[in-house]
Amino acid sequence: MTTVIDGKQAAASVVEGVKAAASDLQQHTGIQTGLAVVIVGNDPASHTYVSNKAKMAKHCGFNSQQFTLPEDTAEPDLLALVATLNTDPSIHGILVQLPLPKHFDSEKVVQSILPEKDVDGLNVVNAGKLATGDSETGLVSCTPAGAMLLVRAIHGADLSGLNALVIGRSNLFGKPMGQLLLAANATVTIAHSRSKDIAAHGRTADILVAAVGRPQMVKADWVKPGATIIDVGINRIEAPERGEGKTRLVGDVAFDECAKVAGAISPVPGGVGPMTIAMLMANTVTAAYRAAGKIAPKF
Ligand code: GUN
Repeated sequence: MTTVIDGKQAAASVVEGVKAAASDLQQHTGIQTGLAVVIVGNDPASHTYVSNKAKMAKHCGFNSQQFTLPEDTAEPDLLALVATLNTDPSIHGILVQLPLPKHFDSEKVVQSILPEKDVDGLNVVNAGKLATGDSETGLVSCTPAGAMLLVRAIHGADLSGLNALVIGRSNLFGKPMGQLLLAANATVTIAHSRSKDIAAHGRTADILVAAVGRPQMVKADWVKPGATIIDVGINRIEAPERGEGKTRLVGDVAFDECAKVAGAISPVPGGVGPMTIAMLMANTVTAAYRAAGKIAPKF
């Protein structure tokens, strides 16, 4: 029987741990964990993501601050806001929602966030710490951290002897995911748009992670029998079967056919998606513990 990985349940369990950790910290030190989320412009999907993050932060007992800036905000004004948040002791985590409007140099903005408040794990210091294996002081990007937690739930912490394939090489996901799998002793391949015959790599992978943004690209004949599949894609496609003009969400994996071959598979929605917000909360409370000079709990 194929296991359908329940990301909602795994996320709820992380969130419960974060709530307890935040409450402990507040009781013992009086410090309330603070998260600032900054959004620029009117992209409706980004607004939905940000309001979900703010709601979850409140649910965890955090001081949740949202900064909504107009589309035509000048870059120096956004950099000035980040600089203020960097020095604000009541804020432990800062997230600038991406993508930013086109006139911003996103990389410059992201790199201006202090590494110890960079709960997205995008600062070069955090990316470097992940690459050199420093999990004690670095922060790891939320979606790969969440995907890794699901891999661990199936295989345990040690992936020695297992082949892992990550499809996609973005800074936000593919590269850090490859690093996490490598740190857990997997033999890692990272495939991307210039790779040849990704299907052949897939057929040797015990763990296949897809993050390309192409609806249902991974087919059953790419999958090694019994493999674990983690689907990171969130793609909205037309769904005429639900009525005219209707849409639905699908991943990068053709779920129904791949589920027949895989040993475990994460669905879309309800797989990696809920883990991203949960890990953002985990990173934020971790940053608050460290700011207080305390050892953060592991999630
Ligand atoms: N936009 C889509 N995913 C993310 C994310 O994980 N972090 C940020 N900052 N923006 C995003």
